[in-house]
Parts: sequence; C-alpha cells; structure tokens
Amino acid sequence: MDSAGALADGDGEGMVNRTSRETTVPLTDHLDLRWALPDDPDLDRFTSGVPEVDVFFRGRRWFLEEKGKASPPTYQFFLPRSGEVVGYASVSKRRCGHPTDDSNAKARYLAIYVVSLHERFQGVELPGVVGTSIAAALFAQLEQIARTAPGCVGLYLWVREDNARAVAFYRKLGFVDDTGGPVRRDDGPAHLTMRKLFDA
Ligand SMILES: CC(C)(COP(=O)(O)OP(=O)(O)OC[C@H]1O[C@@H](n2cnc3c(N)ncnc32)[C@H](O)[C@@H]1OP(=O)(O)O)[C@@H](O)C(=O)NCCC(=O)NCCS
Repeated sequence: MDSAGALADGDGEGMVNRTSRETTVPLTDHLDLRWALPDDPDLDRFTSGVPEVDVFFRGRRWFLEEKGKASPPTYQFFLPRSGEVVGYASVSKRRCGHPTDDSNAKARYLAIYVVSLHERFQGVELPGVVGTSIAAALFAQLEQIARTAPGCVGLYLWVREDNARAVAFYRKLGFVDDTGGPVRRDDGPAHLTMRKLFDA
C-alpha cells in the first residue's frame, strides 16, 4: 500500500490519535505525506500568504492539546529527496449534502477544511516531474485517500470567494461550484462550496 492509502487506513470520521509517524511508507519519490504533529518546528515558520490559514496551522488549531489528538486529521507534505516541508492539509471523511449544499440527501466525501503550501512552493513544479505542480501533486494524494475510502464519492471544500488564486486552482483541477453560490459563514468574505465528484 502506498503512503496515502496507508495513512488513510484507520482514519476515522471524528477525532483520531495523531501521535506517531511510524506508519509512513513512500507513495512516490517526489511528494510524500505523514501525519502533522504539534511539535513540528516547520509550523512556526509557516507562511502561506493568507493570514487566517497561517493562524490555523501555526497556531495548531487542528490539534486538541488537552486530548493529545488531531481534529481534524492533518497531514504534512514533504519532498522526500530534499526533506523540505511544502505544506499541510486538514481533512476529514464526512457525510455532506449531496450533490449540492442544500440537498437533503447526503453522501460521504473527503472534506478539505484547510489546505496550503508554503508561499515559496506555490506555482512551483514538482521536482523531477515535468508539467506537474507541487499543488496538483498534493491534491492527487488527497484524491488517492478519498478514492480508497469505502463509499467516498469525491472531494469537498469551502473557499472564500475572494481567494482568486485558490478558486482558479480548484477549477483547474475539476472542482465545480455549488449552484447555491457563496454562503456567509462568518464576518469575512462569503465561502464558495466546491466539489469534485468521482465518476460513478
Ligand atoms: C491554493 C494553493 C494550494 C494552490 O496552489 P498553487 O501552487 O498556487 O496553484 P497553481 O499555481 O498551480 O495554480 C494557481 C492558478 O491560479 C492562477 N492565479 C494566480 N494568482 C491569481 C489571481 N490573483 N487571480 C486569479 N488567478 C490567479 C495561476 O495563474 C494559476 O493558474 P494557471 O496554472 O492556469 O496559470 C496555494 O495557492 C496556496 O497554498 N494558497 C494559500 C493558502 C490558501 O489560499 N488555501 C486555500 C484556502 S484554505
């Protein structure tokens, strides 16, 4: 089993223990992933260009200190040849409105809560893989996790409508906006719901 599959095994729907990296097995020679841990010194240097994303990862908002557990499960992505950490993603398998946000029907998705590359790796090609960006490779890993989860129909995320770069990137990968349009979830700009459905 590759790295994404191995790490996805035992990935529960809610809170899960993320205190060991011993299960890591390389997926490719080019981009690998492991569980993020709160003692990761890279987190303190993390800069995405989006302040609320930095606060989330740097502030360990994804880790419940009092319980010693990650919630939601959070991955660290790195270049295995150089050891450089390129970014993070907090995700969870959950039942979401299907096929749109306001539907009564539900289906299981891999929900991507927060995802980011370090600024210096944005718009950068994956070393050794011509024509593939690091960002696209990261999403290929997330898609692999989703595709190996029983009953999972696709990827699901929210993104602020004014985050033009992220929205453009998601559309490029095949994500589609929900028909309901942007929804206000807090005091900031409204969020678009976007999803990428796998073929039946
Ligand atoms: C979202 C993210 C992972 C995408 O990775 P990336 O390496 O920037 O992606 P790419 O460079 O492959 O693609 C971005 C696309 O947006 C385009 N783009 C860049 N700036 C843009 C802007 N201001 N407006 C519109 N499009 C823009 C790029 O040209 C590119 O499209 P192209 O390949 O057709 O030229 C990365 O930008 C990131 O980590 N952003 C900061 C954190 C964040 O916003 N996370 C999402 C919300 S949780």
